[in-house]
Amino acid sequence: MDLRGKKAFVAGIGDDQGYAWQIAKELHEAGAEIYIGCWTPILKIFTQSWEMGKFDESRKMRNGKMFEYAGIYALDAAFDKPEDVPADIRENKRYQGAGGYTVSEVAQAVERDCGKIDILVHSLANGPEVKKPLLETSRAGYLAALSASSYSFVSMIAHFGPIMTEGGAVVSLTYIASERAIPGYGGGMSSAKAALESDTRTLAFEAGRRWGIRVNVISAGPLRSRAARAIGFIDKMINYSLANAPLQRDMEAEDVGKAARFLLSPDAAAVTGATLYVDNGMHAMGVAIDSPAFAPEAEVAESKATL
Ligand SMILES: NC(=O)c1ccc[n+]([C@@H]2O[C@H](COP(=O)([O-])OP(=O)(O)OC[C@H]3O[C@@H](n4cnc5c(N)ncnc54)[C@H](O)[C@@H]3O)[C@@H](O)[C@H]2O)c1
Repeated sequence: MDLRGKKAFVAGIGDDQGYAWQIAKELHEAGAEIYIGCWTPILKIFTQSWEMGKFDESRKMRNGKMFEYAGIYALDAAFDKPEDVPADIRENKRYQGAGGYTVSEVAQAVERDCGKIDILVHSLANGPEVKKPLLETSRAGYLAALSASSYSFVSMIAHFGPIMTEGGAVVSLTYIASERAIPGYGGGMSSAKAALESDTRTLAFEAGRRWGIRVNVISAGPLRSRAARAIGFIDKMINYSLANAPLQRDMEAEDVGKAARFLLSPDAAAVTGATLYVDNGMHAMGVAIDSPAFAPEAEVAESKATL
């Protein structure tokens, strides 16, 4: 897969553990030039860690070269333009001195620095009340999840679309909690992922007609990223998938990186508006083999009693 001469803006890299890192690495290995969008409050720690060599091991690519980026930008995808940023954020010490981090400003900066881009990746999400069940989620928490995790995608395409080449492609990341109940993935995050998937279809139409670009979303299996560890039950989800998915293999970030590289390449020229499951087939399952329903009758009665 040859992506030489292509430019990619990848939003959502904060360390070397998440999906965005691996997607960027796969794109770079195929020849693309990488521009990173890093959440404003963690940009400094990310660049310092990079410079100190903390990521050197993960930067190694299969071709023996090191993963490099051509540019890096502070980005807070919850804000579209400078006047949207509230005073408490503007004055927060981790935001001070990092001007130009709203979506419209970053798109302008990217255009100024590198002209048009061919690839856009949205691999970010945030739900301040993610640990709360939906029934206990506040309106503010729910809307914050939607703003950072779903509207951010609409905004990024609206602002980057005009600086994308015709035939360009966009990918974002979703989770099966959008369409199946996953207790523990709360705070409106399941709703945010449902919106993201629905918007993918509408944006595929609108951005396809307006700029000739493709828009797809990957529904990824569980990975021990920083964001997933913060939610708290990621190890259980990994074990659940290992026990119940059609493919009983560890889910690697590389699996998603390679699928994204395909969707973002000209090989997927006719694929748009799609949700691609990269989850060892977990989404296809209807029952769980560890369900008490499969246990001896005494255990079923006991499990009912504890509900
Ligand atoms: N890890 C999983 O199990 C899993 C499964 C399915 C889907 N996903 C999705 O994959 C995507 C990437 O997450 P990840 O698991 O790789 O974790 P991650 O922690 O590596 O990535 C999330 C990134 O979002 C950034 N971010 C948060 N709020 C932001 C904002 N307002 N503006 C800009 N950046 C912001 C964080 O700094 C972080 O770098 C997310 O959309 C997530 O929901 C993750």
